Amino acid sequence: MKIFKCKICQEGYLGDEAPTHCPFCGAHKPYMLEAKDFAIPGYTMTDISRRNLEETLKLEVDNAEFYFCAAERADNDIDATMFKRLGKIESEHASTVVKELKIPSPEISREKDMCSDNNVDNLKESHEREDMAMKRYTLFLGRATEERVRELFTALIEIEKDHLSLTEGRF
Ligand SMILES: [Fe+2]
Ligand SMILES: [Fe+2]
Repeated sequence: MKIFKCKICQEGYLGDEAPTHCPFCGAHKPYMLEAKDFAIPGYTMTDISRRNLEETLKLEVDNAEFYFCAAERADNDIDATMFKRLGKIESEHASTVVKELKIPSPEISREKDMCSDNNVDNLKESHEREDMAMKRYTLFLGRATEERVRELFTALIEIEKDHLSLTEGRF
């Protein structure tokens, strides 16, 4: 067994092989490094990236809370499982941003009334939220000059795009 570490969320993974996606943040396999090869060089963050990461944090917290609400109200186990996992992944994205900004973690509520009682409406809203996240992060990527920030937004865009595919054709 080997020890891997995700270049995006910095969480560890124990396994014989790197997983196809980080089980915590959903980053794709190329970001899963053997722990002995893991390093994130220090850098100075621009004010623009700081603001954009702050907006990213808000968006991820909001999406996580939406997903936890949608999981509670799902009308079938498959969607409940999907929404719960998405809630955890978006929470992990919030933690990832917090680490980068070196700020305290905001609270993520699991009890907010911020989704519909109708499962199909929540599938639709999931799609809209992921689409919005991808668009914001594409904009932020274009404005980032730091290698690390570019890496984060590139990975987040890939992950939110994966999420978008989950609800394709479902509403
Ligand atoms: Fe990760
Ligand atoms: Fe996310």
